[in-house]
Amino acid sequence: MANEVVVVAGTRPELIKLAPVFKWLEVRGVDYVFVWSGQHYDYELSRVFIEELNIPEPQYDLGVGSGSHSVQTAKAMMGLEKVLDERKPRAVVAVGDTNTVVASALASSKKNIPFLHIESGLRSWDKTMPEELNRIVADHLGFTLFAPSKLAYINLLAEGIPSNRIVLSGNTVVDVLLENVGLAREISDRVLSSIGVEEREYILVTVHRQENTDNPRRLIGIFNALNRLVEDYGYKVVVPLHPRTRNRLIEYGLMDTVKEKLTITRPLGYLEFIALMEKCLVVLTDSGGVQEEAYTLRVPIVTLRYNTERIETVLYGLNVLAGADTNRIVEYTIKMIEYRDKIVGNVKGKPNPYGDGRAGERIASWIKDNLDELTISDVDLTDEPIVSYKLVREVVENHKLLDKLIGFNADGVPVLENPMELVVRVSLRWPKPWENLDS
Ligand code: UD1
Ligand code: UDP
Repeated sequence: MANEVVVVAGTRPELIKLAPVFKWLEVRGVDYVFVWSGQHYDYELSRVFIEELNIPEPQYDLGVGSGSHSVQTAKAMMGLEKVLDERKPRAVVAVGDTNTVVASALASSKKNIPFLHIESGLRSWDKTMPEELNRIVADHLGFTLFAPSKLAYINLLAEGIPSNRIVLSGNTVVDVLLENVGLAREISDRVLSSIGVEEREYILVTVHRQENTDNPRRLIGIFNALNRLVEDYGYKVVVPLHPRTRNRLIEYGLMDTVKEKLTITRPLGYLEFIALMEKCLVVLTDSGGVQEEAYTLRVPIVTLRYNTERIETVLYGLNVLAGADTNRIVEYTIKMIEYRDKIVGNVKGKPNPYGDGRAGERIASWIKDNLDELTISDVDLTDEPIVSYKLVREVVENHKLLDKLIGFNADGVPVLENPMELVVRVSLRWPKPWENLDS
């Protein structure tokens, strides 16, 4: 077995969120092999981030490409299995909830290679979302789970995952943002003028999620709202278009109108995108990463979904869920703009629920410190088989854990107090049928 970890990625957000992990694996001197699944392949969704964020070149490219969920997952598993057979790593590391991630969790766990899941424990409680299914599987197969927030940590405990398998690391999205926001500011004048917008006079939009793009009613609902924000209110609306959304707009015959009214761009590089986000009035998005980044920059968010797994952004008062309903999107966007100063002022002093920008360091340090012990042992090597349950007392007693934990202090700040204290450990020896017969 090689004393190295295999790090897998395959899409835009995985590259961005892994940048700090690669950096800190190098600093801590952990050997790694970088495997690119190839789920994303356009330059703007892949290579641009490798170049911009100094991410190392992948040593393997599995060439997965586009396809149905099963095809993508199966291809990634088959490709990764070969790499795992060749490299025999100590562990496999991946971040997030894409098909590449669930494939990594399955391929590694089935070979008894520990799977280390970064950004673990997010839940939208919506199983029609492909990402929710991927998260649940990846979290439950994970050997060690790096929770990006306290709420994510609690979600994992509430699903019966023992606390000794969870590390509260924070989200690496904060690290990469804090490290690069200065560079983004340096280019922001150029970016804004090349797109033809002025600071705080435009709305930034990203839409790419399957539930929105592949449902014409929803996509039309969203783009009708964007058109109205331009026509009725005179705002400029900037939409860096994901290829999935571009394809659907063409298919549904909407592209001409959209191009006429909105400011459509190619998918942007990270620095360009952050520069635009920091200077916009409000961001409208169905992206997970964009909600986290907007919170970190304290930019108001209208989420183009009916739920979110970035629940903290709503609880802390910077995000509102508008779904794909035209009237609601317009109304909420206008309200966010009208009350912008107060809304932003209200969250300025609040802590960032996604961490302090040191998540990558924590994750890499944990891997370094535990690398030698990362093994899934054969059950027949266990002396005394023990069934261990980590039970969350409140869940067991009254199923109201989250209600109880999400309180608000006098300043209206949600408080999640010492989740660890609510955990009780119950260890059960397997009972033998002949024991206690006499009593
Ligand atoms: C995937 C992830 C999603 C993540 C998003 C990040 C899954 C289930 N979904 O969604 O969680 O938020 O990446 O952006 O893993 N396409 C191109 N060029 C590319 C890649 C895709 O044109 O380089 C087009 C293809 O038509 C493809 C479609 O986009 O069929 C969807 O791509 P896919 O990777 O399946 O899903 P995303 O929507 O990108
Ligand atoms: N992003 C980018 N250029 C764009 C749009 C988004 O660099 O034109 C970045 C954004 O800053 C965030 C990430 O892409 O870090 C989010 O990716 P995406 O929305 O595709 O996926 P999700 O986060 O929803 O999984």
